[in-house]
Amino acid sequence: MMNASHDQNSSNKVPGYSIIKPLKGQKALVTGASSGIGKAVAVALGQAGASVVINYRSNEKGAAEAVKAIKDCGSEAFAFGADVSQPADVQAMFKAMFDAYGTVDILVSNSGIQQDAAFDEMTLAQWQIVIDVNLTGQFLCAREAVKEFKRRGVVPEVSRAVGKIICMSSVHEVIPWAGHVNYAASKGGVMLMMKSMAQELAPLKIRVNSIGPGAIKTPINTAAWSTPEAEQELLKLIPAKRVGEPEDIGPAAVWLASDESDYVNGTTLFVDGGMLLYPGFEDGG
Ligand SMILES: NC(=O)c1ccc[n+]([C@@H]2O[C@H](COP(=O)([O-])OP(=O)(O)OC[C@H]3O[C@@H](n4cnc5c(N)ncnc54)[C@H](OP(=O)(O)O)[C@@H]3O)[C@@H](O)[C@H]2O)c1
Repeated sequence: MMNASHDQNSSNKVPGYSIIKPLKGQKALVTGASSGIGKAVAVALGQAGASVVINYRSNEKGAAEAVKAIKDCGSEAFAFGADVSQPADVQAMFKAMFDAYGTVDILVSNSGIQQDAAFDEMTLAQWQIVIDVNLTGQFLCAREAVKEFKRRGVVPEVSRAVGKIICMSSVHEVIPWAGHVNYAASKGGVMLMMKSMAQELAPLKIRVNSIGPGAIKTPINTAAWSTPEAEQELLKLIPAKRVGEPEDIGPAAVWLASDESDYVNGTTLFVDGGMLLYPGFEDGG
């Protein structure tokens, strides 16, 4: 169960970056920002002063809510429907962004899905769609962003970096996940895609990093936390003994997008309540 003190800390507090606005003047694109983690990240970037493009695939209502939340805190935003696994959709989305905002400074590649099955029952379609959205979608979006970063170069009054890419990965870029082989493979792929891009692009002052959430309460994993029994089982995997909220991820994205993290390249920032700390050993093993 989530405790009251966390509730008070996370829900009603005005984050410091909404006053300092470290991303003022920057243009951000967040994919899969109609729901869950992407929505919270998009709102956090908007609170930090960025203008934000809200990508969605089917949830127009959720996208409109994110746009409103960002406008309510004084930043610009608009929604754009696009399937990140489709090159033509991705190109149209970046064109709409450049028409509206002129450029891109921050890409958060967050769209992701699960299609779970026992390994020998997994269809090729289930394998392919997860790889297409979770991995190829990140490649397609990053490629468009990097073309623009290279074309534009650094604008010192906006940021020390030419551009920032944040890949939404998962603790499952390192923790194997039975019954979710397609998902774990996609996130393992994101890890080495991110690191290889970071190595290639760091000399150009383009920073590429990932966020690796643990268990966060969103529609993607409702079955894992929506009953008290399921949540108790899940808590056995989390040393911090609470399931994360989307708002736990927003500040990490703001930091990775800001000049505060200017010397951070090619790393995954795990935001997981300690899920990677071998919780099976917490009583001494
Ligand atoms: N929740 C967790 O515990 C957790 C843990 C680790 C990593 N993650 C990662 O965090 C990311 C966000 O997941 P979430 O938990 O916030 O799930 P979510 O609430 O289900 O959100 C998924 C988002 O991805 C979008 N999306 C799905 N397919 C798309 C496509 N083909 N093109 C464009 N957008 C698409 C959805 O858009 P529509 O709804 O508009 O279709 C939605 O906005 C994913 O990459 C996931 O792997 C989540």
